[in-house]
Amino acid sequence: MIDITFRPYYNSDNEACMRIFDANCPEFFAPNERDDYQQFLAQIPDGYEICEVNGLALGAFGLFDDGPGEKTLNWILLDPQSQGLGVGSRIMDRVMHLGRAAEATRVRIAASQKSAPFFEKFGAKANSTITDGWGPGMHRVDMILPL
Ligand SMILES: CC(C)(COP(=O)(O)OP(=O)(O)OC[C@H]1O[C@@H](n2cnc3c(N)ncnc32)[C@H](O)[C@@H]1OP(=O)(O)O)[C@@H](O)C(=O)NCCC(=O)NCCS
Repeated sequence: MIDITFRPYYNSDNEACMRIFDANCPEFFAPNERDDYQQFLAQIPDGYEICEVNGLALGAFGLFDDGPGEKTLNWILLDPQSQGLGVGSRIMDRVMHLGRAAEATRVRIAASQKSAPFFEKFGAKANSTITDGWGPGMHRVDMILPL
């Protein structure tokens, strides 16, 4: 039985988030994205959430405003030990719930060729691909998830 809860990101989560990033690099994130993530976290982004799995900070994601009726899903990542257990699906349930509660009609997702098949399972559709868009061998796949 997995206990999954969500709470806001705090500055004290920085180390855990960077550790999760590093554990997913270079499999799911290009090494050059590390500085971008560090800078993103340094702003203590309002709307970034920690996913606690059995009381441990093992995942994170953020849903942010992106124009009228639109949201953007940023920096969703899970510790490898929590992948493949349905935790990501619970995060997507929360993303869709939060988006609908804010009366958004769609969520933009800047994925990669590695993660796009996951988002497709929730109805997201790719609308463009940039080869090596995130770094060598890591293509950028821009997707729209209708709510
Ligand atoms: C992508 C991620 C959030 C998915 O979370 P997860 O907890 O592993 O996903 P779930 O266990 O809820 O899987 C749900 C379904 O999606 C599938 N799936 C999960 N990740 C997948 C992937 N990368 N490619 C294809 N299918 C995937 C699962 O097999 C499962 O399929 P099923 O319903 O047919 O059994 C997680 O694997 C992760 O953090 N990956 C590394 C970071 C990353 O790539 N983030 C995205 C950046 S844009």
